[in-house]
Amino acid sequence: MGAILGINAFHGDASVALVADGQLLFAVEEERLNRKKHSAGFPGLAAREVLRAARMSPGDLEHVAISRDPKANLHKKILYAATRRPSVTKLVRDRLANVAKVRSVDDALAQALGASAGQLKAKFHNVEHHRAHVASAFFLSGFDQAACLSMDGFGDFLSTWRGTGAGTKIDGIDKVEFPHSAGLFYTAITQYLGFHKYGEEWKMMGLAPYGRPTFVEQLRRVIHPTADGRFKLDLAYFRHHDEGVEMTWDEGSPVLGRVWSDRLVELLGPARDPSDPEFFGRWADIAHSAQLLYEEIFFHVVEDLRRRTGLTDLALAGGCALNSSANGKLLERTGFKRVFIQPAAGDNGTAIGAAYYVEHALLGRPRRFAMTHCYLGAPYPDEEIASAIESSRRDLALWSGVDVRRVEDPELYRGTAQAISEGKIVGWFQGGMEFGPRALGNRSIVADPRRADMKDILNQRIKRRENYRPFAPSVLAERVGDYFERTEPSPFMLMVYRVRPEKRGEVPAITHVDGTGRLQTVTPSENPRYHALISEFARQTGVGLVLNTSFNENEPIVSNPGEAIDCFLRTRMDRLAMGNWVLTRT
Ligand SMILES: [Fe+2]
Repeated sequence: MGAILGINAFHGDASVALVADGQLLFAVEEERLNRKKHSAGFPGLAAREVLRAARMSPGDLEHVAISRDPKANLHKKILYAATRRPSVTKLVRDRLANVAKVRSVDDALAQALGASAGQLKAKFHNVEHHRAHVASAFFLSGFDQAACLSMDGFGDFLSTWRGTGAGTKIDGIDKVEFPHSAGLFYTAITQYLGFHKYGEEWKMMGLAPYGRPTFVEQLRRVIHPTADGRFKLDLAYFRHHDEGVEMTWDEGSPVLGRVWSDRLVELLGPARDPSDPEFFGRWADIAHSAQLLYEEIFFHVVEDLRRRTGLTDLALAGGCALNSSANGKLLERTGFKRVFIQPAAGDNGTAIGAAYYVEHALLGRPRRFAMTHCYLGAPYPDEEIASAIESSRRDLALWSGVDVRRVEDPELYRGTAQAISEGKIVGWFQGGMEFGPRALGNRSIVADPRRADMKDILNQRIKRRENYRPFAPSVLAERVGDYFERTEPSPFMLMVYRVRPEKRGEVPAITHVDGTGRLQTVTPSENPRYHALISEFARQTGVGLVLNTSFNENEPIVSNPGEAIDCFLRTRMDRLAMGNWVLTRT
């Protein structure tokens, strides 16, 4: 049986996923390879990489699934434009130009793979954006049947899609169309708070716990729930529907124009200047209020879906599903008993969803795969790590004071855990790269969670990010109840739970100001090496978790050994463990 290549192209977080015999073999985001954050455009490097990793040629591809359908809702786009100002007609014209790009995916793919027209025999499919999101959650959830929800900014003219999944089928119930969007509401307030780059919604979520809910009543004018279980924006506070806000990606990284209108200033006061060093006070209050209101809308949509379907399992995806503060409360705030959230819930994951939509919904092939981890990059063999070290060492000046050795597993865990317990900052590079926004123990920087000053040390030495933002823990799955009030697994760091009050003082570096932590639970079956490292740290210190942050310095997460070595050498990291190779600053 031939393979299916899923592609997210001409959208943020361009990516590909390769599925064969029902198994998800590899998935890679273009940003990791071209080193441009959230890279949009066509993921040509990623397409080449997954075929190389699977030792396949272009001729092995039976189907190609693109997570956009230019024809979906096209009549609504045109109708919408016809009733609006000329600027919107331009917006739709731009969209139609993008449609032409999406239609040229076959040429772009052939070119990226160096294939002639005759070599690429795959059948091409367009899968509507939200169906691809939902498929990425439901078909990989392991649930036979589930309620399905996708919520994001926009994709194919929709912001929300609700339905059900059963076996190999997904059926829609209803949707929320452009210009209404809970994701866009969140983005608008994020931008208003001075975070302008694509994908900076994390920053507002991290700021929210510092504030008070003093702006909730004002913000209720901006977005409100409707009786049918959905919601509406007051469009007076937005620009996207009338002046048009385009996403561009000339340099690879997407840029989204300002989506809020001046009316928001009348409501909330002047917007925060991005260069203002102050984050707290009014700004944190607005972030707190926006997060609270977002959660109200989200749970309103989710609980209404539960009532309509009568189901107790939920499959969730779309950019809104990355709101880990909301996710952590989902089971206590709604009647759902279990939830599966696609770890690459943003548009990167639609490459996976499009491929599985073709596999099951279109081809009717039976389900035989559940996603239990996201280590979907190709692992680097020992010889490749050794040769990356060898070639970097030619620059002697950079390597002065750096010791390098190869050690066996017990010493790898013992020595690394000891370094962490001594307050050292450790780069941990193992196995295949994570797919999705979080580093989960294969491309991670690991540190001691017991040190209250570790956040500042990491920020000064490596991460250089806003000081208020929290760092996250990776906890042994069997010990999650020792530290957290909830014990449902959180393998993809998509849940924020409350840290047990009596433990907060023990692990201050991973406890946020409101007493919560965005945890990753680690099992020996999904990540044996990371589990062994944390177990060894627990043996030495009694603490069953470590601080985990992504392996990068203001750049996409490192993908290969050479990038890991460069990051180690140019930052003030103390130790780098790559496979069984250990670099130590002496
Ligand atoms: Fe999306």
